[in-house]
Amino acid sequence: MEIDWKNLPFGYVNTDYNVRCYNRNGKWGELEVSSSEYVNLHMAATALHYGQEAFEGMKAFRGEDNKIRLFRWEENAKRMQRSAQGVMMAEVPTGLFKEAIFKVVKLNEKYVPAYGFGASLYLRPLLIGSGPEVGVKPSSEYLFMVFVGPVGPYFKEGFNPVDLQIIGDYDRAAPHGTGHIKVGGNYAASLRALDRGKKEGFASVIFRSSADRKYIDEAGPANFFAIKGNSYITPNSPSVLPSITNMSLRQLAADMGLKIELRNVAVDELGDFDEVGACGTAAVISPIRKIVDRDGGKTYEYCKDGKAGPVSTKLYNKLREIQEGRGEDTYGWTQIVE
Ligand SMILES: Cc1ncc(COP(=O)(O)O)c(C=O)c1O
Repeated sequence: MEIDWKNLPFGYVNTDYNVRCYNRNGKWGELEVSSSEYVNLHMAATALHYGQEAFEGMKAFRGEDNKIRLFRWEENAKRMQRSAQGVMMAEVPTGLFKEAIFKVVKLNEKYVPAYGFGASLYLRPLLIGSGPEVGVKPSSEYLFMVFVGPVGPYFKEGFNPVDLQIIGDYDRAAPHGTGHIKVGGNYAASLRALDRGKKEGFASVIFRSSADRKYIDEAGPANFFAIKGNSYITPNSPSVLPSITNMSLRQLAADMGLKIELRNVAVDELGDFDEVGACGTAAVISPIRKIVDRDGGKTYEYCKDGKAGPVSTKLYNKLREIQEGRGEDTYGWTQIVE
């Protein structure tokens, strides 16, 4: 298949190989290489009925030097372990996670987009309860697999400002629920809100804190951040997924001399911010041009000249430079796939 690297969507593209490993009787087996796009799954698998499922999303980048780099993969391994704990699945040890992701990238090397298109190879590690149960209880068998595919930018606008809608009539997660881990149920719960938001003309939606509706929670499948004067502000809600991109941006922002404010961010503060954005592996940074409050009727506007703000732009460039091996990797965030 010929791939049009310049116009890659953020979608599924089949590649040559994926890798799989089963946990049976509490023990992980050997990592297998497969060329099938399908899994043979028991119809009573707990993943299908009770949502025993977790996934990760990460990217491999080709640098100007043609080398392939993975970005902070240990953080994805740790987060998948926390997700596994959260829904009582067998944890994937860091060593197995590493073996799987490096192997699957190497095997599909030809699908890592060339440098310069803003495209990358997306990795999707997946962990599911594959054993049969009918009662509500954890599975006795788990399948860990990783597939990959070349992707373009998540928001078709790329690093151009997007419009978001803030809503209060749907929740993706509850304060003591599963919002802080990457399990499928959170995404199922967000679909209706996202679909309506898109139909109403928005790139994504911002969820309010579900307990009191006062604070900003998550920006669809991304974290929310704001720049106000010399501060980088981002919600510390218990139902937000701890984003590895956000964590990295906080470090870069601190290095640029910004003050980091990890705190409740009231919806009422939206009018006070100089720049706002959504961040995550898929989107990196999506600068926000406009936020429309669907309940309050208020509209907040940023990027008045139509462009991303200066701080967001600087942060975006710094992170992209590190990911593509152009900038100094002070913290050893990238690892080359050899
Ligand atoms: C709900 C949600 N929030 C935030 C993020 C961003 O996290 P990360 O930067 O680790 O990709 C993601 C995943 O991309 C997500 O699905």
